[in-house]
Amino acid sequence: MELLNIINNNARIIPTDLSIHTQYLLPYLDDLKRASEDSTFSTPEASIRLPFDEEIRDEVRRLATKLQNPKLKHIVVLGIGGSNLGTQAIYEATHGRHTEFRPLRLFFGDTVSPRLLTYLTKILIEGTESPEEFVINLISKSGTTTETIANFEVLYERLAKKFSAEAIASRIVATTDEGSKLRHTADENGFHHLSIPKNVGGRFSVFSAVGLLPLELVGIDTKQLLDGARDMAELCLKTAENPALTSAALTYTHSKNGININNSFFFNPELESCGKWYRQLMGESIGKEKDIDGKVVRTGITPMVSIGSTDLHSMAQLYFGGPRNIFHTLIYGPNKGFDAQLPSELKLQNLVDGINGKDVKSIMNAIIGGVKAAFVKNAMPYTEINFPEINEYYLGQYLQLKMIEMMFLAKLMNLNAFDQPNVEDYKDETRRLLSI
Ligand code: PA5
Repeated sequence: MELLNIINNNARIIPTDLSIHTQYLLPYLDDLKRASEDSTFSTPEASIRLPFDEEIRDEVRRLATKLQNPKLKHIVVLGIGGSNLGTQAIYEATHGRHTEFRPLRLFFGDTVSPRLLTYLTKILIEGTESPEEFVINLISKSGTTTETIANFEVLYERLAKKFSAEAIASRIVATTDEGSKLRHTADENGFHHLSIPKNVGGRFSVFSAVGLLPLELVGIDTKQLLDGARDMAELCLKTAENPALTSAALTYTHSKNGININNSFFFNPELESCGKWYRQLMGESIGKEKDIDGKVVRTGITPMVSIGSTDLHSMAQLYFGGPRNIFHTLIYGPNKGFDAQLPSELKLQNLVDGINGKDVKSIMNAIIGGVKAAFVKNAMPYTEINFPEINEYYLGQYLQLKMIEMMFLAKLMNLNAFDQPNVEDYKDETRRLLSI
């Protein structure tokens, strides 16, 4: 088993400062181990169990096999937040961000947007001749998310003008909580359905049917993905010397010292959606008004996402010249794509030194090296995650590492990582406005 290469040499925390947190987390490490062995998913940390659960994987595979056929070309995920971000992260990381030339594609309908709906209508209705050509995966844990249901209604009404209700129903999968109203409605309408274990919250659900079905349908190697997640879970649950615990302790120690912004700095643009997934994970898990004892604490660490080198041309001034309040994680791996090489005799001569005859990858490596050297020169803390390959196996490791890290971090901050009570504020108000 090869692991993500995690380098903490420049995190700028003295190891003895971490040991106190490590000691504190030891009993929780045992709780997480128990959660990973609990096939009833009864604990709040139940998501750790997902990569070990063969039943869920088999159920997803059986349904995927039923839905697959040579005509299938569009898979549309209707879901938002935890119901789509993980899937989108893995899809874009493995397929790149420009997928328009692929015969089989995954589309995401998250927010309500007339432009997005026009696009999805073109894909689903104008671009198909029979329902076998598409699958709609309606994903909502609660089953009552306004944007998801609204998008579904618009698309369904249009589809119903073209195809019979029965034919459409056979191409719709509702992924939701076992007891949700959506589950009942899906049954009444003859849709397929898959369940999300009750204690697996949206942002921790990527290794459940939420992520597995659409990824499996679009041809992603979900076995490798889950193998990676399982290997990382095993590593992080074995001893206190593990990368999730260390990362949580580093992040916590910095935040206590006023370094309260966390920047996921990706040097492969196709990983940007992994950053958006992590942003939700951190934002919702540890951005809290109250701690676990109900005391008002109003705490959090602000997650941000940067893309190298693009954002060096917009954010580097702030990073290097502004307040020293950011803990950066540089994340990179081998770039896929054609190995573009610059000519030895440049057309645009005397503009940029040192690039003639180089390939694009070595230019990017020089940029990463330059950023690291500048961080060191400025005594700025950073860690590194180096992907040996950007593939399903290492993505499974990365996502699992970060989910376990977040559980440890919430524990250190005395917070409940698994709820999001304040999100209800805007949801309630939206419902009130819509009912007027
Ligand atoms: O992590 C979470 O719980 C949230 O971000 C939800 O995923 C998001 O609000 C969507 O909710 P639902 O899956 O119920 O439609």
